[in-house]
Amino acid sequence: MNYVLENNQVVQRENVKTDFLDRAYVFGDGVYDVIGVYNGTPFKMEKHIARLENSADQIEINMPYNQVELKKKLLQLIEMNHLVTGFIYIQISRGVAPRTHHFPQIEVSPKLIAHTTETTRLPENHYTDGVKTMLVEDVRWLRCNIKSLNLLPNVLAKETAVKNNCFEAILHRGEMITEGSSSNVFVVKENKLYTHPADNYILNGITRQTVLEICEKNDIEVVEQAFNKDFLLTADEAFLSVTFLGIIPIRKVNETTIEIGEVTKKIQDELYKLTHKSGIASL
Ligand code: PDD
Repeated sequence: MNYVLENNQVVQRENVKTDFLDRAYVFGDGVYDVIGVYNGTPFKMEKHIARLENSADQIEINMPYNQVELKKKLLQLIEMNHLVTGFIYIQISRGVAPRTHHFPQIEVSPKLIAHTTETTRLPENHYTDGVKTMLVEDVRWLRCNIKSLNLLPNVLAKETAVKNNCFEAILHRGEMITEGSSSNVFVVKENKLYTHPADNYILNGITRQTVLEICEKNDIEVVEQAFNKDFLLTADEAFLSVTFLGIIPIRKVNETTIEIGEVTKKIQDELYKLTHKSGIASL
């Protein structure tokens, strides 16, 4: 990763100027998004950019330039970094200003940074054998639909999971399951797929939305309804969805074992086909 998009210019990494008074640095005052790239092609890029703008709108940050322009710049970045497989990270902060909690009363320009990471997906056994997860109380704010830079509760939940030898923390508010610390959660029961509705308690994942499209095309019934811990623990199947990594079956929640079944495999396969077929028209 040699090049970074800084506002509307692609520059060498060492030439990026980050000010310590940038509100992203001081308050986490900004938003971000992550776009998966397969074989040099970004997947669902327009949807990610639209979600980024929506997150920015919600906290009253204007995009530094429009979505079409941003798409062009990100494609340029992929090319200049020779990114084949990995992801693009984009963040927009409110900008640089003297530290006050309220929005700056002077004119500030939002600051956009985008960079790429070349990486691989998870080891194959994660997709075939599933992963261990654990339940962690969801202590986040009530606007989780915004992809905000403030990720401390997510970071702490994931760290708890990792310390307990788990891949993901499944968050719950009291009895209600919301989502993973960095993924959406799905449960299969009697061949129906359940997931939390896209409201303020979760981030409406682009992968989640793609899963719902796959279900529609394949006659898999979806119920967008909040469910409780017991419902998850007695699931026929369960899985996580997240950008780039795709569909990851859940094998364990705390001490409870969950089977990996046909519905999960079908959705896994269909998503894989969408992301990995060559020359995908998914921009
Ligand atoms: N996170 N929920 C949360 C809290 C997330 O952080 C993410 C993804 C998702 C899945 O969204 P999507 O399918 O659009 O990736 C759900 C990204 C990848 C991250 O923070 O790195």
